[in-house]
Amino acid sequence: MELIKVTEQHEPQVALIELNRPKELNALNPQLMQEMRDALMDLDKNENVRVIVITGNEKAFAAGADIKQMSDKSAIDMLLLDQFSTWDQIRKTKKPIIAAVSGFALGGGCELAMTCDMIIASETAKFGQPEIKIGVIPGAGGTQRLTKAVGKAKAMELILTGRFISAEEAHFYGLVNKVVPIEMYLKEAFQMAKEIAQMSPIAVQLGKEAINRSFETQLDEGLAFERKNFYMTFASEDQKEGMKAFIEKRAPVFKGK
Ligand code: CAA
Repeated sequence: MELIKVTEQHEPQVALIELNRPKELNALNPQLMQEMRDALMDLDKNENVRVIVITGNEKAFAAGADIKQMSDKSAIDMLLLDQFSTWDQIRKTKKPIIAAVSGFALGGGCELAMTCDMIIASETAKFGQPEIKIGVIPGAGGTQRLTKAVGKAKAMELILTGRFISAEEAHFYGLVNKVVPIEMYLKEAFQMAKEIAQMSPIAVQLGKEAINRSFETQLDEGLAFERKNFYMTFASEDQKEGMKAFIEKRAPVFKGK
């Protein structure tokens, strides 16, 4: 891996992926996104990993897709490049992913953070979809995910003006889970990751899958999907252990079986 750095056990059962193009403010080129996809697929299969944290650096989570690599491309070049199929594969990651965001999360950077399951932001974080300022629109899910996260009015404002919002405003609109001082954003992300890592990984995976299904379906179908996944948890040893431990007034030990 050249453009990202992967630490499999940053904390017990918690992996860290760091974007590593600091000079370009972690601009997302196809190579970086392919490395990200490969890392996530490996970590998804790794039995010793239960939660993944993705971060950039203090100045930038990521300042968007790489404008320099796109500027001369034709529509057909972009079609054939098909860069967003990599994003589709990233979206299929089964384990929970927490974005730890400091500094710029713009364009594709904001879209990458929104592709994660939760966002912990430093007070310095700035979110935005500034593509309109360079004559394009978001292409990695921004028009859909931002709208679902913050509602139509705010999404229109951000996508049509290209304006950035502060971490505090992003929190107010429900885009991020928590805003903390800059020295705390990674710690806070790991704290949340460790908390989730203690749960049954089977229940965590089924819960994530059912939440994501709510974006794809009507309520009836979503409820049926949730019910199926709920019943499925009863096929796990973790369900037996979790409920037994509750009754015996002790902490459960989840094995992911
Ligand atoms: N692509 C390529 N290079 C980028 C980049 C990007 N998205 N963002 C920053 N860089 C580069 C700059 O060109 C600069 O490189 P040089 O030193 O070689 O000149 C370096 O990173 C540092 O950037 P700045 O000097 O501009 O830093 P700044 O602190 O003055 O400004 C900024 C920071 C406001 C984030 C500014 O860099 C900026 O506006 N970046 C572009 C943001 C943007 O438009 N993102 C959307 C991209 S399109 C997209 O993402 C499409 C999609 O949906 C997938």
